[in-house]
Amino acid sequence: MRIIRTVKEMSAFSKSIKLEGKRIGFVPTMGYLHEGHLSLMRIARSKCDVLVASIFVNPTQFAPNEDLDAYPRDFARDEMLCERENVDILFYPSSDDVYPDSFRTEVRVHELGDVLCGASRPTHFAGVTTVVAKLFNIVKPDIAVFGQKDAQQAVIIRRMTADLNFDVQIVLGPIVREADGLAMSSRNKYLSAKERETAPVLYRALSEAKSAIEAGEMTDSEDVIELIRSKILSAGDFRIDYIAVADPDSLEPVEKIQGQVLVLIAARIGSTRLIDNILVSPAN
Ligand code: PAJ
Repeated sequence: MRIIRTVKEMSAFSKSIKLEGKRIGFVPTMGYLHEGHLSLMRIARSKCDVLVASIFVNPTQFAPNEDLDAYPRDFARDEMLCERENVDILFYPSSDDVYPDSFRTEVRVHELGDVLCGASRPTHFAGVTTVVAKLFNIVKPDIAVFGQKDAQQAVIIRRMTADLNFDVQIVLGPIVREADGLAMSSRNKYLSAKERETAPVLYRALSEAKSAIEAGEMTDSEDVIELIRSKILSAGDFRIDYIAVADPDSLEPVEKIQGQVLVLIAARIGSTRLIDNILVSPAN
């Protein structure tokens, strides 16, 4: 595995690979890797000739009051894990190289980036789309793999890719969970022992909602949301950011569940914000 630390070198490398007619697979991350990230690398590995993973804790997707400085980092461990997944290139640029002083541009997906997580984190998704657009131009992937864990992010990146005509196939990997159902996340490290014990209720609540919808017991989103809310609030000291039932493609709120829906949660426990979601298809 080769580690590339500059934009210039990454860009030149990708250009040479494309000239050889090889397919580049790409998994962008912010590091502190876990099985969720690694599962995406395996998916990408099976669909490409050259596998590029990036580690970049992107400052523009953190608001000033958020956890940029505290965001967990362990490059030595990440390097070892990428090596084990047969990553060919680990792209690990510096912030100054990605965002030089002269940088002035923003890529923003309207509406999709303003709801759900975007409502409480108004600058977040513009930061994500800006950096992903840059990474696509630098790495020049044929396919890029993202996780369903960040369902809204995935919808927004698909929209951006289509809107800006990026010649990249976007592939989604399923949510990888801990044995007790908690969705893996680099931020789970922030949880105290007690919070960690309580956190899996998010997935239990989503699973219960899914069963109720699939059994035809619930068709009103309001009932689904109330079921999840009461389950979560009775389990611990959560502050719910949102619970939503949405169209999986448009993220528009759904009132009456008739086709496939995405049920999403964002909630804080202590100082940690957790998100999770589940795709549900009603019986008929
Ligand atoms: P990060 O949170 O490091 O996640 C990198 C990728 O891993 C994302 O596509 C995310 O959805 C996926 N992922 C995280 N946890 C997962 C899990 N439990 N199961 C499956 N996939 C999971 O998302 C970002 O970084 C950044 O916003 C980024 C896209 C890199 C732009 O900066």
